[in-house]
Amino acid sequence: MGVSKIKLAVLISGRGSNLQSLIDACQGPSFPAEISVVLSNVPDVMGLDHAHKAGIPTITVNHKEFKGQGRENFEKAMIDTLSTYEIDLVCLAGFMRILTPYFINHFKDRLINIHPSLLPDYKGLNTHQRAIDDGKKEAGCSIHIVVPNVDDGPVIIQKSVPIMNDDTSETLAARVLEQEHIAYPDAVKMIAEKHVKIIDGQLEFSS
Ligand code: GRF
Repeated sequence: MGVSKIKLAVLISGRGSNLQSLIDACQGPSFPAEISVVLSNVPDVMGLDHAHKAGIPTITVNHKEFKGQGRENFEKAMIDTLSTYEIDLVCLAGFMRILTPYFINHFKDRLINIHPSLLPDYKGLNTHQRAIDDGKKEAGCSIHIVVPNVDDGPVIIQKSVPIMNDDTSETLAARVLEQEHIAYPDAVKMIAEKHVKIIDGQLEFSS
């Protein structure tokens, strides 16, 4: 009998290299997840090409078309279209819109994000440059539950890398990105295999 697979929606805004890492992982027959749909809030981005090549359905909900109508209308459009797919877990992967409690509560305990820092350090943008400027010796990435405060939810998994003396934000970002591509599939596997459960916004780990 085949492994039972949870169903993912992956939300992107651009390049989609983390999406690609999830696509690659999900192609493994024993990987316990599959991608039902990829949603982008930006039309024609590279990540959508990755999904097309893998034969995964895509949706574009362009936030610019909701200008002046409030974030919730944009989010309602995303929810409406996502609800036509079977989804156990929503993975934000370079999704660059801040979500309101309306969307977050709709996907309560089913919404995770990847952030390129060792949270709680360096929430927000320009994480790598800020770590270099502070003279830090270590950087990394975190997969965490999405809560209304940006980049603030409980952390499921982190991976760290050294910061070298001659690092620029680009060289450091590349080193962290390699770890992101390992961390996201790892986190999805942990959730799918119930080594971690998300219950009421909190994490319960078991071996
Ligand atoms: C990644 O560094 C991710 O951690 C951050 O945005 C970037 C997205 O890259 N949230 P990609 O689109 O997955 O290549």
